[in-house]
Amino acid sequence: MSAPANPPGSVALRARILHFTAKPTGKGEQNAVQYFDDGVLLVEKGQVTAVAPAEAMAQQGFDLSRCEHLPDHLVMPGFIDSHIHCPQLDVMASYGEQLLDWLNRYTFPAELKFSDPQYAALMSELFLDRLLAAGTTTALAYATVHAHAADALFHAAQKRNLRLVAGRVMMDRNAPENLTDTAASGERDDRRLIEQWHGQGRLHYALTPRFAPTSSPEQLLAAGRLYVEYSGLYMQTHLSENLAELDWIKSLYPKAKHYLDVYDQAGLLGPRSVFGHGIHLSDDELARLAATGSSVAFCPSSNLFLGSGLLDLARLQAAGVAVNIATDVGAGTSFSQLRTLADAYRVLQLQGQSLDALTAFYQLTLGNAQSLHLDHCLGNFSAGKDADFVVINLAPDALQARRQSQVASLEEALFALMILGDERNIARTYAAGSCVYQNNN
Ligand code: GUN
Ligand code: ZN
Repeated sequence: MSAPANPPGSVALRARILHFTAKPTGKGEQNAVQYFDDGVLLVEKGQVTAVAPAEAMAQQGFDLSRCEHLPDHLVMPGFIDSHIHCPQLDVMASYGEQLLDWLNRYTFPAELKFSDPQYAALMSELFLDRLLAAGTTTALAYATVHAHAADALFHAAQKRNLRLVAGRVMMDRNAPENLTDTAASGERDDRRLIEQWHGQGRLHYALTPRFAPTSSPEQLLAAGRLYVEYSGLYMQTHLSENLAELDWIKSLYPKAKHYLDVYDQAGLLGPRSVFGHGIHLSDDELARLAATGSSVAFCPSSNLFLGSGLLDLARLQAAGVAVNIATDVGAGTSFSQLRTLADAYRVLQLQGQSLDALTAFYQLTLGNAQSLHLDHCLGNFSAGKDADFVVINLAPDALQARRQSQVASLEEALFALMILGDERNIARTYAAGSCVYQNNN
C-alpha cells in the first residue's frame, strides 16, 4: 500500500474512521465517539473538509471512486505526546538507576553531545522520524540547553510542516559545566528563540526549566518574566517524580511550602503549564494545580522504568487536575503511545483503577489537544482542523490478526490495539494533509 499522489495537502480516504467529539464518560459511552465502519475523510489544503459515512456521501452525489479505499484500516487523528525529550533517543533502555543517578550517568552525557550543531541537526531528524513512525504528529518536546539544538529541532519540524511545541532546556546549576547556561544567558537565548520560532507556521515555544534542582531561583524568576511577557507561550518542567528528588528540593528550597510552590513563586503555573510526572503530590499541591488550570503529564512507561512510583490518576482527577498522557522518552521505553497506553492500563490496574479504550484513545487525541489548548486546530476531524492523522493497521501480525478476528465491538478492537499494538500498527502518518511517514514493512 503506498500513498497515492494527490494535490499537495489534499486527501480523499475511504476507511474505518474514528474520532472523538468530547470526553467519553465511561465504558460503553458512545455519545462522545464518532465511528464510521465505512467512512470518508476529505482533506483540502491541509485541513479537514468533511468526514461522514460513505453511503451518506454517495447519496449527496459524492463520487466514492475519488477515494483511496482502505477498508481494513482505521483512520484516527494523529497522536499527541505531552512530554518527551528529543536528545534522549540514545538514553532509552539504560540499565539500573533511578532518576538522579540516571540523569548523571546516562542523560547528561547524551545531552552533552548536542553541543555539536551537526549532531543536533541529525538527531532532531531521527527524533521526528521516530515520532511519526509511532503515529505521533504533535509533541511537547524538550531540546537541550544549547540554543542551536532548539533551532535544529524547530527547523526539522518546519521542513516537515509539523505542529510542534518545544523549548530549550534552562539549567544553570547542578549539571556538567558544558551543559549549563546562566540566568542571564538563558533569558537572552530564549528571548531570541521565542522571537524566531513562536507562532511561526505550526510552531510554538515552551519555556523549559528542566526542574527546580537544576535551575537557580533567579533562573526560575527569569522564566516567569518571559512567561508573562509573550502571549501563548507554554511552560514545561518536571515535578515530584522521585522521592530522592523531593528530599533534594527540601534542602535547596527550605523556605518553599512544597515542591510546586517553588514554581508557583516564580509565576510558572497556568493553563499552558505542563508538569511531568506529579506522582508524590500533597493535597495542597493538587489544589493549586487545579486552581491555576495547570496540567500533569502522566508518563507511565517512564515511571515504571525508573521505579518512580504509580500515578494515582483517580486522586488527581478528583482534585480537578487536568492530566494528559506522554511517553517521556528516554526514561520512557517506547515512542509508541499504544505501548504507553498499555503501561497506563497496568499502572492503574495495580491501584484498583482502570482505563477503558475509548477514554484512552480520546486522551491520545482530543484530550491531549484540549489540555495543550490546541483543540481549536487539532484532536479530531471537525471541519477546518489541521489534517494530522494516522492510518492504522489493526492486524500487522498473525497474533493481532487472530485477536482482532475475535472482537465483538469497536471498544474491544481498540483495547486489543492498545495492549498488543506498537509502531507495527502505524501504516501511514499524515501532517497537514501530506503523508509524512509510510510503513514499508
Ligand atoms: N527530571 C529532570 N530531568 C529529567 C529527565 O530528563 N527525565 C525525567 N524522566 N525526569 C527528569
Ligand atoms: Zn521528562
